[in-house]
Amino acid sequence: MFQSDLLRGKRILITGGGTGLGKAAAGRFLELGAEVYICGRREEVLAATEQELHARTGGPIRWRRCDVRDAAAVEEMIAGIWADGPLDVLVNNAAGNFLARTEDLSLGAFQSVIGIVLMGSLHTTLACGRRWLAAGRGGSVLSVTTTYTTTGSAYVVPSAVAKAGVQALMRSLAVEWGNRGIRMNAIAPGPIRTEGAFSRLLPRPELEQAAKERNPLGRFGTVEEFANLAAFLVSDGSGYINGEVVTMDGGEFLQGAGEFTALGRQLTEKEWEMMKPKKA
Ligand code: HXC
Ligand code: NAP
Repeated sequence: MFQSDLLRGKRILITGGGTGLGKAAAGRFLELGAEVYICGRREEVLAATEQELHARTGGPIRWRRCDVRDAAAVEEMIAGIWADGPLDVLVNNAAGNFLARTEDLSLGAFQSVIGIVLMGSLHTTLACGRRWLAAGRGGSVLSVTTTYTTTGSAYVVPSAVAKAGVQALMRSLAVEWGNRGIRMNAIAPGPIRTEGAFSRLLPRPELEQAAKERNPLGRFGTVEEFANLAAFLVSDGSGYINGEVVTMDGGEFLQGAGEFTALGRQLTEKEWEMMKPKKA
């Protein structure tokens, strides 16, 4: 769906790029000509992904071990990458999440998720943004959030507050740094099957069917659909999109919000017919 050189010359860092959605985006970016860095905490996962994606695409991919909660470690990683040349794009994809009743959570549980999602995104965004501003060059940040940032969600409260903060960060800096050629956007995906998300957020396999039925399209999203949207948003072709949160959830959020949506299942065929205007 894209020209094969869409991202040629772009140097891109994807946090949490060793698995799931980040890995899918890394593969797509390489296919489209980008030079890709991925980071995460587990060296063996990163090394295996590097090997797999390089073998598949032939593209330049490197990995760095980095815990994004650690501001000094992020600064060291970004300085090391910049020593080889500036990044053009940062993708804030690393996250932590789990299901829990909020009253049961320790302070450490909040700190862990908020540290990865909100502070991690802040560390990477500032480290790249300050360099782009100092050099007088543009750049682009894409953060991966969720559809429950505006509503909040029961049972994933640390994630909800952290992801809402990331969206506020993106929207704020879209305005503050936009006049210096830096774009900030986000993707808010609905459920997409990944080991990291589904192992933590879908405690019983039978719940999958109910989750699909909540969606107008009756299915989960795919990692390929995510990677294509990400490629578009980090490409120059989307250069006027700034401060936007693009929802890709098959319409699930709207299905949950519509006042009369449930009537589709509750009303009988006869009742729909009776509500039609009577012919004269
Ligand atoms: C309650 C928990 C918990 C749980 C951990 N903790 N798991 N509390 N319920 N299930 C608490 C611990 O007791 C500890 O608190 C603190 O959290 C840190 O836990 P650690 O295991 O020491 O942390 P760490 O090894 O750094 O692991 C971080 C993690 C883990 C977030 C807990 O799940 C992780 O590594 N996640 C990364 C991948 C991930 O989550 N992917 C899913 C993203 S999906 P104390 O007080 O004891 O120190 C997503 C989108 C969802 O975000 C939307 C779908 C539609
Ligand atoms: P995933 O495979 O678990 O991805 C999370 C990645 O973040 C992992 O590679 C993990 O690697 C990395 N990570 C976690 N903590 C880190 C830290 N402290 N420092 C650096 N890296 C860290 O899950 P996913 O489904 O692909 O999620 C990717 C993104 O999509 C997340 O932002 C998530 O919130 C979002 N999202 C996913 C879904 C979905 O249904 N899949 C829906 C909405 C939003 P290490 O463990 O090796 O560090």
